[in-house]
Amino acid sequence: MTDAGALDRLANWPRLTLAQLPTRLLQAPRLSSDLGGGPIYIKMDAETGFALGGNKVRKLEFELAPARLEGVTHLVTAGGPQSNHCRVTAACAARLGLACVLVTNGPEPDRPTGNALLHRLFGATIETVEDRAHRAAGMEAAAKRIASSGGRALVVPIGASTGLGCLGYATAAIELVTQLDALGDGRSQTVLIGSTSSGGTMAGLLLGLALLGRDDVRLLGVSADAPADELTDTARALAAEGAELLGAAPDLGSIHLETIDDQVGAGYGIPTPDSDAALRDFARLEGVVLDPTYTAKAAAGLINRLRTEALTASERVVFLHSGGAPGLLS
Ligand SMILES: Cc1ncc(COP(=O)(O)O)c(C=O)c1O
Repeated sequence: MTDAGALDRLANWPRLTLAQLPTRLLQAPRLSSDLGGGPIYIKMDAETGFALGGNKVRKLEFELAPARLEGVTHLVTAGGPQSNHCRVTAACAARLGLACVLVTNGPEPDRPTGNALLHRLFGATIETVEDRAHRAAGMEAAAKRIASSGGRALVVPIGASTGLGCLGYATAAIELVTQLDALGDGRSQTVLIGSTSSGGTMAGLLLGLALLGRDDVRLLGVSADAPADELTDTARALAAEGAELLGAAPDLGSIHLETIDDQVGAGYGIPTPDSDAALRDFARLEGVVLDPTYTAKAAAGLINRLRTEALTASERVVFLHSGGAPGLLS
C-alpha cells in the first residue's frame, strides 16, 4: 500500500539542490542480445550532473540541507584515496564556500590522479591515516581541532550512508518507478541490480519502494567489499532509520533485497577477470563507462546472473549505474 503522507513529506523534505534529475533510463539492446535477449536498462546515475556525478550527489542533497549548515565552516568526511564520496563532498564544500577536510587512508600519492586529483582540485585539505580503521577517529580529531580554533565542522559519515542520506535514494526509487511505468515493454517485474558498499543506496531504494508498495521491483546488491549478510542488515537498518525520519512505518520486509558478495574477488578496489570483462562489455556494447571498484563488479554480478538464470517472460533488468568513472582514470 502506498503511504501518501510519507511520500509527500519526502517530496517536501528540505534539501540542497545539486542533481540534474531525472537521470536517464537507457535501453541497452546490444548488451541485452549478448546476454540472451531479455530487456536490460541502465539507470544513469553516473549522470547526476554535479562534480562528475554518481550516487553520492543524491545522498548529499539531504545530508547538506540548508538548516544543517547553519554556522558550519567546514565539511569533514572520510574515504579511500579514490573515494567518490570524498570527491562530491569536496565539490559541495567548494560550491557552498566552506572549507573541507578529507580523511583518507593510505599514503599521500606522489602524483594524484583520478578522484585523488579531484579532491585536491576542489580545494580540500587531505589528512591521511594509516588504514580504514583509523578514519572515524581521524574525522573526530579534525572536527575537534576545527572547533578549538573557533570553527564548526559538519561531519558527513562515510558514504553519506545515514537514515537522512538514504532519503536521496528513496526519491530515486520514485523517479525510477515512474520511468518503468512509462516503458510499455510488456514486462511487469523488475530486477534492479547495483553496487553496494556502505549500504545507503540499497537502503534508500528499499525505503522508496516500500513507501510506494512496489514489490514488483526486486533489489539485488552486489557487494564491493563487505560480506553479503552484513550489507543486507545495514541496508535494512538504514531504511528503517529513514522511515522513522519520515514518521512512516512502511512494510520494509515486503520488498525483496538480496545481497551477493561473490564478485569481490581479492578485495575492495581490486579488479577481477569478470569485472574487467564487464567493464569492457559495457563500453564496447553500449558506450557506457563503468568504474573498476563498484560498478564493474556490479555489472559482473548482472552478467553472471543472466548467464546462469534467464529472465522470465514478465521480467526486465535495470542496472543502476552509480558512477565512479574518475576512478578508472587513476
Ligand atoms: C560509484 C559508487 N557506486 C556504488 C557505491 C556504493 O554505494 P553505497 O555506499 O551507498 O552502498 C559507491 C560508494 O560507496 C560508489 O562510489
